[in-house]
Amino acid sequence: MNFNKSVFFGALLIILIGWNCSGPEEKTVFSKIPFPKDNPITAEKIAFGKRLFFDKRLSRNNEMSCATCHRPDKAFTDGLPKSKGVNGALAMRNAPSILNSSYFKRYMYDGEVKTLEEQVLVPIQDHREMGSSMKEVLRKLSKDSRYRELAKSIFNRELDAYVVTRAISTYERSLISRSSRFDRYRAGEKTALNANELAGWKLFSEKLYCTKCHPAPDFTNYRVLSNGLYRDYGTDQGRFRINGEEKEKGTFKVPSLRNVSLTAPYMHDGSMKTLKEVILHYSNGGADHPNKSAIIQRFSLTDLEINQLCSFLETLVDTSGVN
Ligand code: HEC
Ligand code: HEC
Repeated sequence: MNFNKSVFFGALLIILIGWNCSGPEEKTVFSKIPFPKDNPITAEKIAFGKRLFFDKRLSRNNEMSCATCHRPDKAFTDGLPKSKGVNGALAMRNAPSILNSSYFKRYMYDGEVKTLEEQVLVPIQDHREMGSSMKEVLRKLSKDSRYRELAKSIFNRELDAYVVTRAISTYERSLISRSSRFDRYRAGEKTALNANELAGWKLFSEKLYCTKCHPAPDFTNYRVLSNGLYRDYGTDQGRFRINGEEKEKGTFKVPSLRNVSLTAPYMHDGSMKTLKEVILHYSNGGADHPNKSAIIQRFSLTDLEINQLCSFLETLVDTSGVN
């Protein structure tokens, strides 16, 4: 990501903020991005957070930034079943997209992390991801006079964990992807979807049960549930690891399906390569696990209907905020 792009994006945001004061319609564009009271969104903070997000000094060996696993060209995922951390370590799970993460009500597959600010600490310290510590990161970044100046001018304090977590989370909040063809259809532009895609949306939302857990606009209900991926989840029992509660074995946060055609492979362990494979998983009724949601039931679709469902899912792509 070069500097020109951040300037462009900053300018765009300033325009949006400007509009925010003048026009009622534009007001919704900007005011729809939620943020915590103590961390308002500003163009300077987004640009600072973006630099940090792409800064490899955040990892122990200076070889890996947040963007190594959350690549803009892959809707902020990395295309691997499970991410690779420092020195080739295998991360525990598949990297989810962070587009629209400002709207998420909980983070990580366990759904245990409550804010984006808090989340920043996790990959930095995880020995299977960046393998460093906030102390170590601050020691390296504080040598950079530009960073010290930005911390002073934007936050009026020294470069510290407060600054790093607030800046990165603000950049993440700016990554909005809600102008897909499906959104245009939903806003009333009837020709935005073709007949095949529309038939797929009807399957997804009416004939089948998908919207019970993946409803618009975010295509997730944010709950932590089991879709019956396995009969035995093996070493990763999902949210069970947080409290050791039997009923949480095999439960994972329902992922958003926005940009899903760009984020393969699928599921917490990246075990499914294609959307067709995912659909077959559901049509087979999922594996027989005691915590599998009762909503998941066997169904049958023709080949045409499977294609229609895939076509609909492919309409959820919107990379305009990224490019
Ligand atoms: C080594 C690869 C890797 C790196 C580096 C990495 N992440 Fe992640 N990220 C992941 C994986 C894997 C998950 C899912 C972990 C889980 O759910 O247990 C994740 C989850 C997330 C989530 C939660 C998304 C959701 O849907 O709940 C956010 C936000 C996030 N990362 C931001 C960051 C930021 C910010 C950085 C840099 C400070 C970063 N990541 C660095 C791999 C990585
Ligand atoms: C009971 C809730 C529930 C229902 C109903 C449901 N899902 Fe899911 N879905 C989940 C959960 C939970 C996951 C993540 C599971 C995991 O990672 O182990 C998931 C994952 C997915 C993924 C993979 C996303 C990714 O980024 O990895 C796709 C695609 C998907 N579901 C599509 C569908 C479709 C299509 C339907 C309807 C046939 C459907 N889901 C019905 C809960 C549900």
